[in-house]
Amino acid sequence: MKKAKIQEKKTNESVKIASPYNSIRIEKDVISVLRSRRLVQGKKVEEFERSLSEYIGCKNTICLNSGTAALHTAFLALKTLRAEKSEVITTPLSFAATANAVIHAGCKPVFVDIDEDTFNINPSLIEDKINERTLALEPVDIYGLPSDLREIRRIASSKKIPVVEDAAEAIGATYAGKKIGSFSTLSCFSTYATKNLHTAEGGFVTTDDDELARLIRLFRNQGQVSRYNQTVLGYNFRMIEICAAIGLGQLPILDDLNRRRRENAQYLMEKLMKIDSIGFQSVSDPKSHAWYMFALTLDESKASITRDSLVAKLKEKGVEADVAWPTPIHLQPYFSETFGFRRGDFPIAEKVCKKVFQLPIQPFLTRKDLNRIIEVVRESLP
Ligand SMILES: Cc1ncc(COP(=O)(O)O)c(C=O)c1O
Repeated sequence: MKKAKIQEKKTNESVKIASPYNSIRIEKDVISVLRSRRLVQGKKVEEFERSLSEYIGCKNTICLNSGTAALHTAFLALKTLRAEKSEVITTPLSFAATANAVIHAGCKPVFVDIDEDTFNINPSLIEDKINERTLALEPVDIYGLPSDLREIRRIASSKKIPVVEDAAEAIGATYAGKKIGSFSTLSCFSTYATKNLHTAEGGFVTTDDDELARLIRLFRNQGQVSRYNQTVLGYNFRMIEICAAIGLGQLPILDDLNRRRRENAQYLMEKLMKIDSIGFQSVSDPKSHAWYMFALTLDESKASITRDSLVAKLKEKGVEADVAWPTPIHLQPYFSETFGFRRGDFPIAEKVCKKVFQLPIQPFLTRKDLNRIIEVVRESLP
């Protein structure tokens, strides 16, 4: 495994929740891309796609300009082959893009509640929501923890429904010893600036299905099969060469960066587990998790302060804690107004959104940073 060099931190800087990777190699490669004068969808993107396929162990990788575009084109490709289908079964505990992409593709999100321990979609609730309109199942590997893919795949194949995995947060995660991105019909990743592997903005789809890959490539580039020859209504979702160069500069050290995230999470967990009011996302195999986010919960009935005051206090004391997400997707005003969702529809997701929060575990934290996090949490939760 290639090792990453520790990045220098300025003194008195807060303990950051994300620290987008950079290196001399990346800076050099970005400059040489600029000098090459081929700036969009060229050799670097092709190399990034080949390298990602090799890393993940899949047949096709299609790079796009965001994770949202990855999901959007995945659903468009499926819809091209099954136009009569219009529903996608997914989880309400995610970033809005999970459901936005479904709507952009002309479909309707159908939510099922989550598992209270893993925060991922609860597979035992999926079958009840499947009907003749179901286009796909869309599990989300939340915070980088793979969903129960074996069970989801079992349900999907028994009903002959494809799986579009929202793996936006899960690059480098594994399931049954294989890399995430090699299981589902289509897996969609984000390489947004804060992600474990970033390209500033960007994303990609992986699939072993050549026809779906062909369609996604068409949608990515204005529906053109060849230059100025358009067969479907497409978009401009192309990745730029600079982004691919940034991503290529991280891929060889991704596993090492993820290992550091895991070790940071394990260190914090070990020290914080004695606090009665604190809980954690349940992870059966820490090595399978990509540790994009370190999710904890605060049981307010056992604590002297609320979750929101704890997070505010941490920020005030220079620790960048966060709440992802304070509101489940179905209760976002757009979704409740458009689809009529109400409080109480998905009680577990609603409950988790009230108690979940995140602490920094990014790879460039020092032991001093981690101890600072522990000290501030302990001070705030006597
Ligand atoms: C679960 C999830 N799905 C989808 C997305 C969308 O990715 P992007 O921001 O690259 O469009 C994100 C990214 O933040 C995400 O966390």
